[in-house]
Amino acid sequence: MSATSADRPERAAVLCGTGGRLPRRKVGNDEPADRLDTDEAWIRTRTGIRSRHLAAPEEATSDLAVAAGRRALANSGTDRADAVVVATTTPDRTCPATAPPVAARLGPTGAAAFDVGVVCTGFVHALAAAAGLITTGVAHRVLVIGADVYSRIVDAEDRQNAVVFGDGAGAVVLRAGRASEPGAIGPFDLGGDGTHEDMITVVAGGSRLPADPARASHAERHFAMRGKEVYRHAVARTAGSARTVLARAGLGVEDVDRFVLHQANLRILRTVATDLGLPFDRCATHVETAGNTGAAAIPPALADSHASRALQPGDRVLLTAFGGGLTWGSCLLTRPSLPPTPEPAHHGGEPTP
Ligand code: UT7
Repeated sequence: MSATSADRPERAAVLCGTGGRLPRRKVGNDEPADRLDTDEAWIRTRTGIRSRHLAAPEEATSDLAVAAGRRALANSGTDRADAVVVATTTPDRTCPATAPPVAARLGPTGAAAFDVGVVCTGFVHALAAAAGLITTGVAHRVLVIGADVYSRIVDAEDRQNAVVFGDGAGAVVLRAGRASEPGAIGPFDLGGDGTHEDMITVVAGGSRLPADPARASHAERHFAMRGKEVYRHAVARTAGSARTVLARAGLGVEDVDRFVLHQANLRILRTVATDLGLPFDRCATHVETAGNTGAAAIPPALADSHASRALQPGDRVLLTAFGGGLTWGSCLLTRPSLPPTPEPAHHGGEPTP
């Protein structure tokens, strides 16, 4: 007798490995404090950041993405994926997308490969796209990478943004499985409000205003963020998205064992945790040593949190991100059963591939 769809276990995406990569060059707060109108104490107390890693001049987003992707594949016990999704705001080139060359460097050509550009929320959107590839049967194993080299678009003389952003990459592997399995991801909540496109932006370099110094000013050719306003939106939208996805799953805040929020600012993490009524020791923090790495922030925060205090069978993990657009998104990761990470997900020891 052939199985009906009701007999078939529901196909779902299951998270089975993580990896990350920071550039080798670590920059403490003293460096910007020596050079800019800022000081170590301001940076530490207003952001929680003590250091960040910056890419070498020849190091591009794809280089970090390949290194993180390779680690995530190894960590999940495989060496290839049949789709690669890269979330980034700093692609190697305007055209083509960064994912196809990343996929080619990681394995045989032919894998589906595309970019997702949702600024710092990109990783959660990429996860949703990857889960869709799996549940629709397009792919069985998807490598999802968040990678950004913000130092290429942030003006090094801009004291607000130069102290906040760092470069890096993080990745996870999703495989086809069942919704009842450890590591199944979902539900999701994704949202946006494009009336605030100017709040986090690089004005020039696109089809509206080319990055021609004769037409676009220095400021228009660099990353700009209205920090204080963004802060307020970040707190409200991340807390709202977290509640929405929990309600969708029929869970409460008390059911969350680990909260992995976008790593923009330690004060935002604390404020959101307080707003939700979540003890801060359940929050993963990675921003102190990596700064805000954009789309790359969530997977290494998850992996390092797992490395320092192993997730237990049955734990529920909430991933929530916020970024330019404005955009936001959350995803629940139920009972993840991640392989142990023998070393912190991020380190810059080995040469760039
Ligand atoms: O990843 C995507 C989403 N991004 C975010 O969620 C980031 C959200 N925003 C933030 O994290 C914070 O707003 C920042 C870290 C960017 C700024 O911190 P803040 O506490 O909100 O500072 P502020 O903008 O309220 O500025 C306070 C003062 C200002 O001076 P006045 O006007 O009070 O005289 C700034 O000019 O601090 C000044 N300031 C600095 N002072 C020393 C701004 N940057 C610096 C600096 N050093 N690096």
